[in-house]
Amino acid sequence: MNEEAGPNPGDPAKPADPCTIVIFGAAGDLTKRKLYPALYNLKSYGVLPKDFAVIGVARRELSDQAYSQQVTENVHEFATGPVDEAAWADFKGRVSFSHGEFNDPKSFQRLGSKIEQSAKAHRTGGNVLFYLATPPDYFGEIIQQLGAAGLTRQDKGWRRVIIEKPFGRDLPSAIALNQEIRSVLKENQIFRIDHYLGKETVQNILVFRFANGIFEPTWNRRYIDHVRITVAETLGVEGRGRYYDKSGVLRDVIQNHMFQLLAMVAMEPPSSLDAEAVRNEKVKVFDCIRPMNEAEIRTHVVRGQYGEGTIAGKKVPAYRKEHDVNPDSDTETFAALKLTVENWRWAGVPFYLRSGKRLALRTTEIAIQFRKPPLMLFRESGVEDIDPNRLVIHVQPDEGITLHVKAKQPGPAIRLAPVKLDFNYKDFGSSTAANGYEQLLYDCMIGDSTLFHRADMVEAAWKIATPILDYWNTQKAKEFPNYPSGSWGPEAAETLLRQDGRRWFNPR
Ligand code: BG6
Repeated sequence: MNEEAGPNPGDPAKPADPCTIVIFGAAGDLTKRKLYPALYNLKSYGVLPKDFAVIGVARRELSDQAYSQQVTENVHEFATGPVDEAAWADFKGRVSFSHGEFNDPKSFQRLGSKIEQSAKAHRTGGNVLFYLATPPDYFGEIIQQLGAAGLTRQDKGWRRVIIEKPFGRDLPSAIALNQEIRSVLKENQIFRIDHYLGKETVQNILVFRFANGIFEPTWNRRYIDHVRITVAETLGVEGRGRYYDKSGVLRDVIQNHMFQLLAMVAMEPPSSLDAEAVRNEKVKVFDCIRPMNEAEIRTHVVRGQYGEGTIAGKKVPAYRKEHDVNPDSDTETFAALKLTVENWRWAGVPFYLRSGKRLALRTTEIAIQFRKPPLMLFRESGVEDIDPNRLVIHVQPDEGITLHVKAKQPGPAIRLAPVKLDFNYKDFGSSTAANGYEQLLYDCMIGDSTLFHRADMVEAAWKIATPILDYWNTQKAKEFPNYPSGSWGPEAAETLLRQDGRRWFNPR
């Protein structure tokens, strides 16, 4: 459905100001698989500053040469497209390493000297972006140490910090972490990252809603029956058992990524695209979701854990048999919940969310289910068997938007049939190679925090999730495992919608 004019290329993004990027957790998986490939992509789009440098920080000792060699291997393994060797040679020459413990002030003094050396060698000036790609236990400590070493002072340039998820593990810990880091940094120096917000289709939700005149008038309780959001993964815990077993899907995916999707669908039009205007509207959505009491949790929330099963023809083990997972674990690998946004636009419209690991298919989608129009006119035409209009925003793996409508089947009789009006991102033609981190790294370099969580937003989201986690904590999950790998989750997730006369549409 791409129009002849094709995409509007808009203003090409300008390169960011010269800066040094310091990555804590330099040897970790995220750094290898996502951060370096994304930085390399930014270079290839021409938006990384000409003068930049990257310093990796990790515990073990490593020479600059050995580290940049390691990074070269990682980039070649995980790049999202072919690597231009000349461009990479320039990048590689700007990578160096600083070792040290995250709680040792001497490591931060060493890092300070390294930043100065690197700034001189690569003319990066005083701007520094610190990326905390470490386990969450270190976030507060690293920021305290950066502050104590004077590395967050902005007298010679900006200093910004990207903090990975999870941001806290419940409301009290998120409040404590916010307090700890805000004792060192100003809110506009803090970039709490959520990689879902870097996804092209997620960013498109606001454009789709507010740049088109035809949807907004129907985007409310008068026309929308309910909203379903699914984040389904076929992967299991993939060697992350130690982290995951303390987390579970509510903390890992729902409280952050899915709540953000919900907020983008439910928010009011912001007064501008300014970061604070957009984020204010999202926070208001969370504030309108009343935290559930125990009786509501029992009826509106389902948890699950995968048993053994088959994914893409391969046998896979049960969650409790995964490496680094407690054999009696009560951690949920699946959850489904029904939330209501109690404001004038959405009162009475349920938002059903579900996410799980080891499900039948990898898919992330948002389905807006419209109400049934009065169809007396077509009662002889098989209309009862056809679902009402549905707008589906496909976030991944295929990015696009589908509107399900009814049409007349060709022939002499009036017979209705479902048809799809489809837009696929592929129709835009050559898309740029990306893994989702590019936009977010670039936004941080130019100081745009629109796509990052703000302190009050994180706390508002935890206010909704924490009562559920607290309730589960008091209840042994006797039913676990309650869904086989390769299925769509526990039967109770189907019942959650069925009891409201609705259903999930499981893509095939
Ligand atoms: C991460 C979670 O934040 O998101 C992972 O920690 C999950 O457990 C991942 O697999 C899903 O991201 P994506 O982009 O693959 O949908």
